[in-house]
Amino acid sequence: MKRAIITGITGQDGSYLTELLLAKGYEVHGIIRRSSTFNTGRIEHLYQDPHDPEQRLVLHYGDLTDSSRLVTLIEKVRPDEVYHLAAQSHVRVSFDEPEFTGNTTGLGTARLLEAIRMVGIDTRYYQASSSEMFGATPPPQSEVTPFYPRSPYGAAKLYGYWMARNYREAHGLFAVNGILFNHESPRRGETFVTRKIARAAARIAQGKEEFVYLGNLDAVRDWGYAPEYVEGMWRMLQADQGDDYVLATGTATTVRQWVQYCFEHVGADWERHVRFDEGYLRPTEVDSLIGDSSKAEKTLGWTAQTMPEQLAHIMVDAELAETRIGEP
Ligand code: NAP
Ligand code: GDD
Repeated sequence: MKRAIITGITGQDGSYLTELLLAKGYEVHGIIRRSSTFNTGRIEHLYQDPHDPEQRLVLHYGDLTDSSRLVTLIEKVRPDEVYHLAAQSHVRVSFDEPEFTGNTTGLGTARLLEAIRMVGIDTRYYQASSSEMFGATPPPQSEVTPFYPRSPYGAAKLYGYWMARNYREAHGLFAVNGILFNHESPRRGETFVTRKIARAAARIAQGKEEFVYLGNLDAVRDWGYAPEYVEGMWRMLQADQGDDYVLATGTATTVRQWVQYCFEHVGADWERHVRFDEGYLRPTEVDSLIGDSSKAEKTLGWTAQTMPEQLAHIMVDAELAETRIGEP
């Protein structure tokens, strides 16, 4: 039975990846942060009793800032595959907390790679790299596009990208960079723009709120469906050698269009409900991300299936179902 470690198992991608790996027969070890409130909501449906002799999902406390704990866990689990998904992943927040973002998203990657090297296991390593690293470089962006990050988050991810490549070249580690464009789902954090808008459209349609406050509506993103992207991560680690791959839909959608998709789906006039708040603007914006994932298609047989308008409908429908629960 293959064993995998997932950092960031409680996040959007971690939860879908756990489902995928359990379905494929893996033993999955997830690293979670100690918190005074439960942070395991996205994987609650997968929980397995530690007393069950058949247990294949094991959770361990650990933090990206704690290198000795990472060494201990790598030594204890001796995984065949490591999926490094944990990060302070919010771009706007990274401008407020650049040092923390550098420490977790950037240095956290170095700590994990170094733990693998020090323990000396033969494992395959997935690095959650990001299209945010392309930043100001115009689209379409592929594996050969120059990087120009525009946020502390993008800069920290770029450090992680080069560390993964360096461990591949210097130490022979099977290390992969998945350069993923934005991918969304009903499990997306509520402060990312797609979920924020989908949720607001549903609540406004149900008369629960009247307005949603947004920043830049002109930004262009390439929005795909998260469960398809975690399948791509797994495929990258099954390839013959470690390499770097872009995953994207290749489509361009503005935030404004996303608003329209969501509000039209619930039959509401978005212009009556969307208000501007400059607090959501970023000091430097990434204007346009549109990915070219032809390498992943050719090498891994991976293509995105769900396109942005359909994705918006999936997310609004999930919000409508969610907000109906608990109604009198
Ligand atoms: P997410 O929902 O924000 O999840 C982030 C995960 O990291 C959570 O499990 C979080 O734990 C954990 N984490 C944060 N700080 C930590 C620390 N100091 N120690 C241990 N764990 C920590 O992110 P996602 O959307 O699933 O994305 C997964 C990864 O892919 C991230 O690295 C992200 O930057 C990257 N990425 C995402 C996208 C996208 O569009 N979603 C695109 C490209 C790259 P808590 O639950 O306790 O907060
Ligand atoms: N979050 C947010 N909130 N974004 C807004 C808002 C708002 O109220 N109004 C407009 N936007 C714009 C942002 O300025 C940005 O241009 C776009 O919506 C998308 O913002 P986010 O959903 O926060 O995502 P992101 O593109 O900055 O970052 C996500 O994708 C990256 C991959 O490109 C995150 O998941 C990163 O972790 C990931 O690496």
